[in-house]
Amino acid sequence: MNAKEILKEMTLEEKAAFCSGRDFWHTKKLDRLGVPSVMMCDGPHGLRKQEGEGDHLGINKSIETVCYPTAAALASSFDRDVMTRLGKALGQECQAENVAMLLGPGLNIKRSPLCGRNFEYFSEDPYLAGEMGASYVKALQGEGVAACAKHFACNDQETRRMSGSSELDERTLHEIYLPAFEAVVKKGKTRSLMCAYNAINGSYCAENRYLLTDILRDRWGFDGFVVTDWGAVKGRARGVQAGLDLEMPGGPGATGEEILEAVKDGSLKEEDLDKAVLNLLSFVERSLAEKKEGAGIDRKACSALARDLAGECAVLLKNEGILPLKEGQKIVFIGEFAERPRYQGAGSSHINVPHPVSALEEAGSLVSYARGYDAHSEKTDEALLQEALEAAAAADACVVFAGLPDVFESEGADREHMHLPANQNELIEKVAAVNPRTTVVYHGGSPAELPWLDRVPAMLCMYLGGEQSGAAAVDLLFGRVNPSGRLAETWPIRLQDNPSYLNFPGEDGVVTYAEGIFVGYRYYDKKEMAVNFPFGHGLSYTDFAFSNLKTDKERMTDQEALTVTVDVTNTGDMAGKAVVQLYVGDTESTVRRPVRELRDFAKVLLMPGETKTLSFTLDKRAFAYYEPKVHDFFVESGDFVIGIGESSRKICLEKKVFVEGTTTISFTITETSTIGQLMKHPKGAAFVRQMIGKKSGPTDAQQAEAMGEGSEKMMQKMMFEMPLGSLVSYGRMSAAQLKSLIASLNE
Ligand code: BGC
Repeated sequence: MNAKEILKEMTLEEKAAFCSGRDFWHTKKLDRLGVPSVMMCDGPHGLRKQEGEGDHLGINKSIETVCYPTAAALASSFDRDVMTRLGKALGQECQAENVAMLLGPGLNIKRSPLCGRNFEYFSEDPYLAGEMGASYVKALQGEGVAACAKHFACNDQETRRMSGSSELDERTLHEIYLPAFEAVVKKGKTRSLMCAYNAINGSYCAENRYLLTDILRDRWGFDGFVVTDWGAVKGRARGVQAGLDLEMPGGPGATGEEILEAVKDGSLKEEDLDKAVLNLLSFVERSLAEKKEGAGIDRKACSALARDLAGECAVLLKNEGILPLKEGQKIVFIGEFAERPRYQGAGSSHINVPHPVSALEEAGSLVSYARGYDAHSEKTDEALLQEALEAAAAADACVVFAGLPDVFESEGADREHMHLPANQNELIEKVAAVNPRTTVVYHGGSPAELPWLDRVPAMLCMYLGGEQSGAAAVDLLFGRVNPSGRLAETWPIRLQDNPSYLNFPGEDGVVTYAEGIFVGYRYYDKKEMAVNFPFGHGLSYTDFAFSNLKTDKERMTDQEALTVTVDVTNTGDMAGKAVVQLYVGDTESTVRRPVRELRDFAKVLLMPGETKTLSFTLDKRAFAYYEPKVHDFFVESGDFVIGIGESSRKICLEKKVFVEGTTTISFTITETSTIGQLMKHPKGAAFVRQMIGKKSGPTDAQQAEAMGEGSEKMMQKMMFEMPLGSLVSYGRMSAAQLKSLIASLNE
């Protein structure tokens, strides 16, 4: 099949019709020209292939298959290799099942812990989300199966998800909400993106030309195709014009007619339609070329992989000498989730798992069990509670399996609060009171408030860890696997602490991202706010030490790359994986910036006593912020601190480098522009320097002496705040001179 040749042969009617699907999961076929229909299925953490009647909410049954850890867990691995292994396995399964495209990964940002779909998203940090996404996409597509990064963009809540508008400024959009998508386009080379249902600043993503063409194609160089989220089309012809290629689902409701009419009445150019059709045909062509006939998968190996990955993803949040548990001790598992783990979320990503493994099943005779609470109720069942307390009091150690029940979080609905069910909180409090060797194992797609945290000495977070979550929990609890996950999001103490608190989920379909770029740790760290667990936090059964932080230069321009090396040593007596996090902070800036931002990371296995040297390369983006005046990322010259740490709050080594920005912001100077603003202007800066040089009267040093210590700096600040107009009021120049100065600076 040759996409370009086929396009030439297609009639206008055929082209218009081709831009929507055949049904819920297939593209249209065109027998006359030998174009077959291809299938796409939901992911992202398993294959949800519906063979009969389709639906996008996971209500109808799909094939039985393996459920891997969800994105919330996956990102906590802080390991690109985890994503590569998962992407490869899913690619092979898609080949075996004749699926040309998997709908994932989900790249939206965790703006609030309340987003019902947070389990399907990676992080509050765009760099981490982008790196995880890009590795997954590369691996999946390496098997000849297209990825479809979703939901592009700013679909960060479920309330009014199909019709609301996310309102945010340009800097926030580019600095926080787009970079993960940019990474899967540029690094991952994703073949497809799914546009979100919602609008951005009033313009629906499905017809947002700025998003789908100006940014995606013109700026990032995307050459794949864009599909709607299921049912996201508003104006179909406007969509084609904006850069939207395929409408899904297709079938009777599809809008080919509308496209046809628009071309006929001249409101849509046929060449725009041709672009969309060619993008789609190219996808089909490539899928056919990369189809692996006779592919199969080894289900057992996939389940083993799911277990392994769940072990890599879990985060040991707290451990005051309790874990690992020792076999032979009298251990009791408490809580219904030990028997029936919560391991995936509800909605379109729901995988039909024949046999999820529970921790209880895996632990077998190593433990006894008390149900503790009814997972379908929030009320305490006194009989269950008493039975659990008796078992806890008699045990050497107990483990309470707790977390968010299914009804608390789901696609299509946001959480209403950040609490655990009251019966679980009461159980944990009381168990910890009768047995000081209590561990809590947490299941959920997002953080909860933990009122008992001070009284519980150990906590392990599984997130929603896939079908093998129970087995992996046992591996970790008994030290067969050394925990190595790190939090991809901050756990605030209270919901009220979250920066989006006053603006989530918005009002009347409009949500204002008033916190701007200060999302997640960027906010908590700036405010120096106490949190339960910071971004990047996670413990191990061994200890690591960092040393020898070096950079290959101390001064550079933003056109150069910086190599950073650091040694990490396993100083404990158990093999384990260290996660090295590299943060960059701007020491002084004229715009608001976070204290530090994650710019790279690596996970490395170390035997006891072993040291490895890690190397990172930083480029302009590691130092830049998005400057709306130039509509681009921009580096302000100055010192930056490279920090190597174990979380955004635990920086172990630091080193300064000076980076010179090579672009300048040119803007129009007026009478109200300040001297400080002038310093940022190429010609203005020269003028200010000259003016300071020529200054008559007492020198700064003389004035400073007269005014007291510290006044030199203060005077400079005062001067930088002065508008140009005041040069006239203070008699430094005439109004006419100022006018001609401004004109010459603006030339
Ligand atoms: C979801 C998508 C999903 C699609 C198809 C939509 O409702 O938002 O993530 O891929 O349905 O099931």
